[in-house]
Amino acid sequence: MTVQEPSSKSPYKTITRENGSTIEIFHKDCLRGMRENVKQDSIDVVVTSPPYNMGINYNGYNDEMPQDKYLDWLKKVGRLIKTVLKDDGSLFLNMGNKPKNPWVAWDVANVLRKDFILQNVIHWIKSIAINKQDVGKYPNIVDDVAVGHFKPIVSNRFLNDCHEYIFHFTKNGSSILDKLSVGVPYQDKSNIRRWKQANQDKRDRGNTWFIPYDTIQMRKERPHPATFPIKLPEMCINLHGLKEKMVVMDPFLGIGSTAVASAKLGVSFVGFEIDKEYVDMAIARLDSV
Ligand SMILES: C[S@@+](CC[C@H](N)C(=O)[O-])C[C@H]1O[C@@H](n2cnc3c(N)ncnc32)[C@H](O)[C@@H]1O
Repeated sequence: MTVQEPSSKSPYKTITRENGSTIEIFHKDCLRGMRENVKQDSIDVVVTSPPYNMGINYNGYNDEMPQDKYLDWLKKVGRLIKTVLKDDGSLFLNMGNKPKNPWVAWDVANVLRKDFILQNVIHWIKSIAINKQDVGKYPNIVDDVAVGHFKPIVSNRFLNDCHEYIFHFTKNGSSILDKLSVGVPYQDKSNIRRWKQANQDKRDRGNTWFIPYDTIQMRKERPHPATFPIKLPEMCINLHGLKEKMVVMDPFLGIGSTAVASAKLGVSFVGFEIDKEYVDMAIARLDSV
């Protein structure tokens, strides 16, 4: 299948939800889309994962550009995101590496460095093993545990890659976050009394987020080679803080994980994707929210 270069000025699909929020899906290149369809300073949160330039087998998009061209392109994408993002907005950029190409995530973060402040680096943990003996007397862990999605690699040089990055960029490094919206209950409840700030049974989760892939039964349920779980954008949007009439954007929609998270949270969304098959799948997924 070939990727078209659609240019329509109106959304391919607009869904208006009961609470008045709208989900706008464009079958369109994101650079054009951000220029033609998104107002300056109108977006609260961007949660996105660009192509990693690692030869991933997308339907039609060629994921192997010369590295300098790839980074130049993402710099342009970053500049436009900055234009449409509100001053207190958040850009959550998910990037992973490959054992043989361990710098690409940081190379991409580095090209955004001139335009944004890196306010937080979150580690998306896909799989983790905890030995009982390292946990001491902690009562809820009764044995060694190994949880999450573990895809072994055949190599005697490289460790299996069990995490990706979520770079949290803001315009000035001082966006106020709703940390407890993704907080975790205190293990030791006496901390609730001891810490003055702790007025509820929740503490900051920190920057290691264990998020397993959504469980699927059949390959066709995840017909895209590089999705993130819906919980990932959901947590990012919650961390930024839910606000009245807020708008979330994903310039690289894929099959719409950020759109689905936005619909679940009842906030408006705008997304761009050049591959019509992925656009249609995103719309089908939104039908069931
Ligand atoms: C890493 S995937 C995003 C997956 C998405 N986060 C999800 O969970 O479904 C990147 C997507 O960007 C799309 N893409 C590549 N170049 C694009 C462009 N110029 N404008 C819009 N989308 C593009 C690809 O077709 C691919 O689906």
